[in-house]
Amino acid sequence: MSKKTNKLRVLTGIKPTGEIHLGNFSGAIKPTIELSQNPENEVIFLCPDWHGLTNKGQIFQPGQLSHHVICTYLALGFELENNAIILQSDFSQIQENAWYLACTCSAGLLERSHAYKDALASGKEATAGLLFYPTLMASDIVTFAAHLVPVGKDQAQHLEYASDMVRHFNQATNSQTFLEPKPLFQDNPILLGIDGRKMSKSYQNTISLFGPQKETEKAVKNIKTDSKGLNESKNPEECLIYQLFCSFASLEAKEHMKEQLIKGMGYGYGHAKQDFLQEHQRVFGQKRELYEHYLNNPQEVQKLLKNGYEKCLNYANEVTQKARQALGLKSYKLW
Ligand code: ADP
Ligand code: TRP
Repeated sequence: MSKKTNKLRVLTGIKPTGEIHLGNFSGAIKPTIELSQNPENEVIFLCPDWHGLTNKGQIFQPGQLSHHVICTYLALGFELENNAIILQSDFSQIQENAWYLACTCSAGLLERSHAYKDALASGKEATAGLLFYPTLMASDIVTFAAHLVPVGKDQAQHLEYASDMVRHFNQATNSQTFLEPKPLFQDNPILLGIDGRKMSKSYQNTISLFGPQKETEKAVKNIKTDSKGLNESKNPEECLIYQLFCSFASLEAKEHMKEQLIKGMGYGYGHAKQDFLQEHQRVFGQKRELYEHYLNNPQEVQKLLKNGYEKCLNYANEVTQKARQALGLKSYKLW
């Protein structure tokens, strides 16, 4: 049995499909880490590696990327004392509950999902995995009986579906097996990439957190600017360098860049880029060392995650047992 606490159970995840960038940091990672540092919450960060397998033709080896994501959260200060970091594929209960949810929800609901319809509309051959994606995500949430799910607004439909599926299951089995989750929409602004479009690995316009220094330098050098000269006053709100800088820089550093840009007077975009790189190194440099340490010591990471894993295993077993009972399944297992 799991220990009952009055903490608010929060669960979130980001797919391990590429190198972590500043957009992920400001839109998803930083808010989750802050939630983990509030002792009133119990945060479960789930790395959804199974979700990373849903695009046909894009089967990749998610193991290494998952390890990168988990090491990133650890290096950036995710608090493990009350919370947990888990890998989706370590919890087979998620697949089991996903099946139970699928068997009480209509196929039409899944066929209406945006991601599935978009894939069909763009002429891609959608996998059954993509169709099943929302069921798996709903199961991620209900298997650990999470109350609150912090996500970007792009995940609204997935959260609606999760609530619908929970209601259908509970109604069909006349039980209160699964908890209906609530989304916590994060209203962090979308961070733009170095070319001015949304920062996204699909556009190759990202600035990474812990990538090779040379690549960061190259990306920062390529941040789009207007052609204002060295001595002209520049509007920080319209300056992409400043906008990106604000996603990680200290208050003091932001104030300094803002003042210098407004003044102009010998402070050009080249100087702003130099300040950017210096602050990036100050904020992420030490954390990069820790990140690399974790990357190279997976057994240490395993030990760090152990308590959280045990707790989550209890939650998952408890919920799955309830679901089996609600469905009237029988067992002949002797172990
Ligand atoms: P990508 O667009 O690079 O594939 P993902 O979709 O994997 O990134 O992003 C995972 C999470 O990171 C998103 O759910 C969102 O919360 C956050 N995120 C990604 N890009 C941005 C961005 N440009 N601005 C703010 N948040 C972002
Ligand atoms: N679908 C989410 C995304 O693309 C990732 C995700 C998978 C997730 N399982 C989750 C988010 C559970 C929150 C809770 O960003």
